[in-house]
Amino acid sequence: MFTQLKQVPADPILGLSVKYKADNNPNKIDLGAGIYKDEVGRTPVLACVKAAEQYRVEQEASKAYLGSAGSGLFNEKMTELMLGKAHNVIAQNRIRTVSTPGGTGALRVAGEFIKTCTPGATIWVSNPTWANHQGIFKAAGLSVKTYPYYDYENNCLDFDGMLAALKQIPKEDAVLLHACCHNPSGMDLSKEQWQQVAEVANHIGFIPVVDMAYQGFGEDLDADAYGLRLMADSVEQMIICSSCSKNFGLYRERIGACSIIGSSAAYADIINSVLLAVVRVIYSMPPAHGAAIVETILSSPTLTTQWHSELEEMRDRINGMRQLFVDKLVENGVTRDFSFITTQKGMFSFLGIDKEQVQRLQDEFSIYIVGSSRISLAGISPTNVDYLTQSIAKIL
Ligand code: LMR
Repeated sequence: MFTQLKQVPADPILGLSVKYKADNNPNKIDLGAGIYKDEVGRTPVLACVKAAEQYRVEQEASKAYLGSAGSGLFNEKMTELMLGKAHNVIAQNRIRTVSTPGGTGALRVAGEFIKTCTPGATIWVSNPTWANHQGIFKAAGLSVKTYPYYDYENNCLDFDGMLAALKQIPKEDAVLLHACCHNPSGMDLSKEQWQQVAEVANHIGFIPVVDMAYQGFGEDLDADAYGLRLMADSVEQMIICSSCSKNFGLYRERIGACSIIGSSAAYADIINSVLLAVVRVIYSMPPAHGAAIVETILSSPTLTTQWHSELEEMRDRINGMRQLFVDKLVENGVTRDFSFITTQKGMFSFLGIDKEQVQRLQDEFSIYIVGSSRISLAGISPTNVDYLTQSIAKIL
């Protein structure tokens, strides 16, 4: 059976990390995977996470199964974090959340859930979108189509194209939207644009699937959830996939959540039963450690305050690097206008260079960026920015 297999190309993002690790050039720079790095290139465990882990070690009384939904307290705290405690959907008891193995797990559960509702359903994703979105939904048996999103020519949002496409989407389909810090473009919708998208979703009745993997990395925890909260106010049914990888720095612990809003509390209970059945046949139950850390932080006012300030520090560092990067490009003689990078949000932006230039950066300078020319700003620091911008000047 195995002899029929053909070699599969390495993942466009994870494959880069492998190459980067194997590179011996002392000047190498990793702008590939979306992982936060501090000024000296480390991805430290947040202090609030360490404190929560310590607390758990002392307090945890059992390792018995938690069930397919994972920890109820984590699910409740995550729902409040995303929607805000006072949201109507919570008051009306219309949302059900399950803990998942990372944001990817949440997306796969969402895909399987949609397939259970409508076998052969179509989900629309932005062009471009996170490199793994299409694969996850196709693996769940959905058909995937794209709507316009980014104008590569002018480095801005193609909102007219997006809205026109959304207006044509059939009622039975699902539409994936990035809550904030669009991956890979860094280009987010304004409040007015969210309003228009929410009106179209409400009018047509398609199912919004909002992916919130970077809450807190754009402006702040509440501002980043603006569009998601508005959408939840505007439609009867909706799916939210979230991740604690970036904002809690829990990458390898694999913790996220899949939340589904139904049109009434009674429907939400039915939805919950389907969610549990979906989870049971994929991984049975989610891992508990990451959820325990997050619920401990969010249940403690002191740890929550500490988390907010550590999150702000990460966000401010990345924003600072956006400005420094653009300034240094100019200083090192690049005449092309990259100022759009300072207006974008989150970890990523497109450089807008071609595949050959991306490859040259890797081969000649040991600078690793995704083939689409997506860069992770989190990999830039005051110590590597000169080498980086001088190298870009050379390949341009
Ligand atoms: C990214 O987009 O780089 C991250 O979300 C990491 C991943 O799993 O692809």
